[in-house]
Amino acid sequence: MSIRINPSILSADFANMAHDLGLIENADFAHVDVMDNHFVPNLTFGPQMVSRIKATSPVPLDVHLMIADQDRWAPGYAELGAESVTLHVEATVDPVATAKRIREIGARVGLALKPATPFAAVEEIAAHFDQILVMTVEPGFGGQSFMVDQMAKVSQVAAFRSTTGVNLWIQVDGGVDANTIAIAAEAGADTFVAGSAVYGTDNPALAVENLRKIAREHSHH
Ligand code: DX5
Ligand code: ZN
Repeated sequence: MSIRINPSILSADFANMAHDLGLIENADFAHVDVMDNHFVPNLTFGPQMVSRIKATSPVPLDVHLMIADQDRWAPGYAELGAESVTLHVEATVDPVATAKRIREIGARVGLALKPATPFAAVEEIAAHFDQILVMTVEPGFGGQSFMVDQMAKVSQVAAFRSTTGVNLWIQVDGGVDANTIAIAAEAGADTFVAGSAVYGTDNPALAVENLRKIAREHSHH
């Protein structure tokens, strides 16, 4: 089972983005949090900035949309070159149609669940996606504490994957650090977002390697 470590550039220096992207060459993807002050109470950037991040990043982009009306806006992020685009089911009207459009453009598509959204709510449509993102904080901000109670949901997705054979990556995002990544890997996650645990250190590349090593040691899938 491969492990992916995706640093969140929400914790990077927004005025030195090119430099900070250059610090994570050994990551699998750069995790890009798009927020609009409506779906979440925080504001980051939109397609113009993400296009420049795409042009500058040494690794593929894992775009996490935290915006209203995702059916309207999500395909544009695939069009600008993001390799993966993740939708929140809570902000879509027709997630399957939007997933199909994103796949047709050539990107992977993910489905994100806020902490209060159960996996049962999306199980019927999960096969239309390449990744399920189990949020381990309330979306909106970096630096919050990992919600260990979300591990039951991670285990449910892992069980769904093994019984159905649907090839899903299982991503966790929020509060992932050297301690909590072990818990998430044990539960069945394979794709890990870490913001402050990477960019809050003085050696982001070393933090990526350390997280990868711990996740491998605790992954038994
Ligand atoms: C929160 C974002 C996360 C955030 C994680 O809404 O989706 O990607 O950057 O930050 P840390 O790893 O610091 O919890
Ligand atoms: Zn995120």
